[in-house]
Amino acid sequence: MEKNVYIETYGCQMNFADSEIVGAILTKEQFTITKEVSEADYILINTCAIRDNAEQRIRKRLHELKALQRQRPWVRIGILGCMAERLKTKLIEEEENVSFIVGPDSYRKLPDMLEHIHDGEKLSETLLSEVETYADIEPVRFDTNGITAYISIMRGCQNFCAYCVVPYTRGRERSRDPETIVNEARTLFEQGFREVTLLGQNVNSYRWDDGKASVGFPELMSMVAQVSPLLRVRFATSHPKDLSDELLKVMAKHDNICKCIHLPVQSGSDRMLKLMNRRYTSEWYLDRIAAIRRYLPDCSITTDVIAGFCSETEEDHESTLEMFRKVRYDYAYMFKFSMRPNTYAEKHMTDDIPDEVKTRRLEEIIALQGQIALENNQKEIGKIYEVLIEGTSHRSADQLFGRNSQNKVIVFDKGSRKPGEYTYVRVLRCTSATLIGEEIDNK
Ligand code: 5AD
Ligand code: SF4
Repeated sequence: MEKNVYIETYGCQMNFADSEIVGAILTKEQFTITKEVSEADYILINTCAIRDNAEQRIRKRLHELKALQRQRPWVRIGILGCMAERLKTKLIEEEENVSFIVGPDSYRKLPDMLEHIHDGEKLSETLLSEVETYADIEPVRFDTNGITAYISIMRGCQNFCAYCVVPYTRGRERSRDPETIVNEARTLFEQGFREVTLLGQNVNSYRWDDGKASVGFPELMSMVAQVSPLLRVRFATSHPKDLSDELLKVMAKHDNICKCIHLPVQSGSDRMLKLMNRRYTSEWYLDRIAAIRRYLPDCSITTDVIAGFCSETEEDHESTLEMFRKVRYDYAYMFKFSMRPNTYAEKHMTDDIPDEVKTRRLEEIIALQGQIALENNQKEIGKIYEVLIEGTSHRSADQLFGRNSQNKVIVFDKGSRKPGEYTYVRVLRCTSATLIGEEIDNK
């Protein structure tokens, strides 16, 4: 009999891409993906372990699901992803309503596990692999707008930033066969998708070597860009230490490679960067920003930053604010440092910045960035952009929204064009997060 599986995803884009791989693995067997948790026989929660609050949120969700399990006592809950990998069997011991846990490299085992799990039994698969890339699996896009999709191009990370759990939860870095990546992009395009985002923890170190060919990230981007000029290509995430001029040249050459680079800075202080094991200085980072501006004058730049890492002084914090003033990011993901078990920081440093200080520093960064984003957007007023329409605006049924190449959201009144089509929009107004424009017939 067909069994319904409900998949809930937390964390980064990689996790969303992984859930689509899980969907594909299960639907090849006797399982159906349901969008209604109330219809589920199995609930899979794909988890994130990056900060303590990500894990707390998942524990809270598990508690909420107890009510549903009282009504449907046969429902089995499984934890996938980074939190499963980090806590291993501890998680099934601590959470009574979790029946199985599966780490990021063991998803092929899921059908068998679901089929064989018996009452009261608990199962776990958390072995990490040095080769698994799920290259042969065509993800099932079960939660999609039909226009934009993720393609995972590599897995794992071995940068070992001092604060980060990812190398421990996702294992060693490995790249996927470029041919399978290009084929996946082509299939998506044929299905009507118009934008793909190539994903990896550190895409600049993508490298495929099979004795015959050696393909690096710039060549891969170029290959995917050639699938069709109507297919937009984005990528995330870049490590500043490996952002090459060669990649910037490839980006400049192809109009359909989107002009947006996410370049996590983490801190503006050289002392902090060294302690974080980021392997670049603020000078190096600013040189990379200058290179982006040189090759791609209209490129947007976004970042990640951490406030209150171990021993951070007011002076270090001021250097971060200064970095933000210099780069003038279009968007930033801003976090308070959260000590993660087993990381280098946990073993060798002290989480010595009081929470109120972390909060205040974070708020200062958020306020500054809000101002910069607004000013950057104000400079967009009057400009005309090609926009890929993604859907109806969340605010009004009479408006559509889409993104420009720079990944900025633009809202405009519905005209003759539909989601999935390109159009041109002139920017009329803005907030710090959104551009508001009018569709124009001809550029
Ligand atoms: N505490 C706070 N933020 C963190 N990040 C990674 N680890 C931690 C941590 N322990 C942030 C980094 C990274 C982003 C995905 O999450 O900024 O780039
Ligand atoms: Fe969270 Fe990092 Fe795992 Fe993504 S890779 S789910 S951000 S811990």
